[in-house]
Amino acid sequence: MRTPVEGFSKLTKEEKINWIATQYTSNPEAAKSVLKRYWNTNSSVQKVHDEFIENTISNYYLPFAIAPNFLINDTLYALPMAIEESSVVAAASKAAKFWLNKGGFKTTIVGTEKVGQVHFMYKGDKEKLERFFKTHKNAFFDDAKTITQSMEKRGGGISSVRLIDKTDSIENYYQLHCTFQTMDAMGANFINSCLEQFAKTLKQKAAVYDRFSSQERDIEIVMSILSNYVPNCVVRAEVSCPLNNLDEAGLSGIDFAKKMVQAVNIAKIEPYRAVTHNKGIMNGIDAVVLATGNDFRAVEAGVHAYAAKDGRYSSLTHAVIENGEFRFWIEIPLALGTVGGLTSLHPMVKLALEILQKPAAEELMQIVAVAGLAQNFAALRSLVTTGIQKGHMKMHLLNMLNQLGATEEEKEILVDYFKDTVVTNASVKEALKKIKAD
Ligand code: MEV
Repeated sequence: MRTPVEGFSKLTKEEKINWIATQYTSNPEAAKSVLKRYWNTNSSVQKVHDEFIENTISNYYLPFAIAPNFLINDTLYALPMAIEESSVVAAASKAAKFWLNKGGFKTTIVGTEKVGQVHFMYKGDKEKLERFFKTHKNAFFDDAKTITQSMEKRGGGISSVRLIDKTDSIENYYQLHCTFQTMDAMGANFINSCLEQFAKTLKQKAAVYDRFSSQERDIEIVMSILSNYVPNCVVRAEVSCPLNNLDEAGLSGIDFAKKMVQAVNIAKIEPYRAVTHNKGIMNGIDAVVLATGNDFRAVEAGVHAYAAKDGRYSSLTHAVIENGEFRFWIEIPLALGTVGGLTSLHPMVKLALEILQKPAAEELMQIVAVAGLAQNFAALRSLVTTGIQKGHMKMHLLNMLNQLGATEEEKEILVDYFKDTVVTNASVKEALKKIKAD
């Protein structure tokens, strides 16, 4: 019978490991050995990881890979990707190579505005609140000066603070809807600090506003928090080429382009397909976002909300055939940072940013959007020609062989054998069994 633990966070790492291994695993010694095997032998590196979060007992590794040959706005990049799914890096590399001699990827920043809101309850006359807000609007900027000073020096800061009436949805509910420019920082701490100051200013000024009744003075702050929905922090990435330069997998350029456009159009109108279509895009996006130390959960949440912005969940990419050309593009919201957060703390993140030539946040947005577009191109190219299982199972072959305990020699023989044999769980098992028996 398990009992709740008191003061777990105060235990030493060794004690935490002992506790979890004995309480929750069937073979505590084996569990301890796995956890310790993944410790970094360099104690200063381990310490960095221990201190990222609470209750760290080990490290959880993901492969860190490179997808080379991305030509973006005439500059060559090698993309660092942290991801566990086989085929993703191979697909990205293939797409990069495909577009390398066709002009590469072109990108533009559409906007870089971040958002945050103070949610509050005000019981009283709406017009008085509006007058109060007009009178005190400058105080929100003035009172936050100590927070905004250094961001302003870098060219950013608070762009706007607006009062929004939400009482048609929830009784007495209003917001301060605020926008920010956070330059090379993702900006979460900056935005949240500003918002908490706005909430204080709002409460303080309201408490002494002589036109308010005593009930109106008593504004109730519900919460102050940034939004991960950033529909005006958007980047666009695009590829295009003449149809006669596009023939692929035995299809003429026009036939291949038509199939690609059909595939995108299906994802535009069919949510079941759109979710998978966009998942493939996020394979590329998350991998670069993670490698560069950015918050992939924030990116995921914002991207999927954007995919549903017109009232139906839809494709993030678009494709057309126009004037004898195939054009394929993505428009996606990405709130990313290249300073602050993990960027200076995690040695692999630092290295990833160095590999990308220390990009500004806007440049990283463009690179990440390209990773998403390339991934979608590669997935659709397979789907509308050979199907994805052929390439996917080939990539998965090594995972299967490792799981089945194949030796290095057996792996080599079987990788060669499966070059022209269909890979399935059964066929791999059977072939390995045969070799082992020989
Ligand atoms: C698999 O991780 C991603 C794909 O399913 C994406 C797609 O279907 O477009 C291949």
